[in-house]
Amino acid sequence: MDKKLYELLLKNLSVRIFYKDKKSNYILINQAYSNDIGVKPEDIKGKTDFDIHPRYLAKFYRNIDADVIKSGKPKTIQQPYFLHDKQKQRLVEVTKIPVKNDKGEVIGVLGMLHDVTEKMQLIKKLQKTVKDYQESFQSLVDTITHIMEIRDPYTSGHQQKTEQLACAIAKKMGCSAKQIENISIASSVHDLGKIFIPMDILNKPGALNEMEFDFVKTHSTHGYNLLKGIKKFSDIAKIVYQHHEREDGSGYPEGKKCKQISLEAKILAVADVVEAMTAHRPYRPAHPLEKALEEIKRNAGILYDQKVVKTTLNLFKNKHFALNG
Ligand SMILES: [Fe+2]
Repeated sequence: MDKKLYELLLKNLSVRIFYKDKKSNYILINQAYSNDIGVKPEDIKGKTDFDIHPRYLAKFYRNIDADVIKSGKPKTIQQPYFLHDKQKQRLVEVTKIPVKNDKGEVIGVLGMLHDVTEKMQLIKKLQKTVKDYQESFQSLVDTITHIMEIRDPYTSGHQQKTEQLACAIAKKMGCSAKQIENISIASSVHDLGKIFIPMDILNKPGALNEMEFDFVKTHSTHGYNLLKGIKKFSDIAKIVYQHHEREDGSGYPEGKKCKQISLEAKILAVADVVEAMTAHRPYRPAHPLEKALEEIKRNAGILYDQKVVKTTLNLFKNKHFALNG
């Protein structure tokens, strides 16, 4: 390559470049690196990191050089980096590449530094935004469950236990982290729509008449309507909407069948039934767990998804889950 062109390229390159020999003596630096460290390119020859950087950083750099020379492999690290005026600290990503001669022997280290200060500041800002968003999202879920708890303590306790069981089933079935998160939130608020149902119907001792039951059935649609407008809740709203759908189409609100029902809603449906049957209600005492498991077993493939039922039965059989309280 033309020597003049080579020098021009080095001079104009915004990436900081240096080359050191095997003893970590600087041989060459480009203008961008020179501007940072305050040493002219023509004055760099023979200098070491100890002449340029604080002692602890120089030692650190020396160790990485030794690593690259010994292994013959490139290495990339992120590190704090001080500009020569000592006022400004930057964060750089340094890639050190072993330079080999024709015999394949390492004769020095080529370094390239990318300033990633702004990029890392943006990432930190983004992480904080995500954290704040998650916290405000969680407090929204907590507020919803708290409102329900005040209105109907049975519903609230039921949702907590349903959530624990539904998540245990989802994990055993190999659901993704996102699915488990959605199932967890949907379970925590799945009966939210019951705030539209009069208390005297919800807590009525004895069986509901048809009209009253039709009223109760509207809660999944009410829950869906409340949640669907919140962007983060749109997937969760769909699970809430379907949690009373059944495999044979006998459920509500739409009478959807098998594949029309999401796996998340199928899991919630089974957890909901098992927990509800084993809990005390104003209109009936709690059923033993065995009876609840018998109910889902008998209706596997009819009302409830077969795989979900199988997983649930195994969870209890192998004592991987217990409904406490
Ligand atoms: Fe429900």
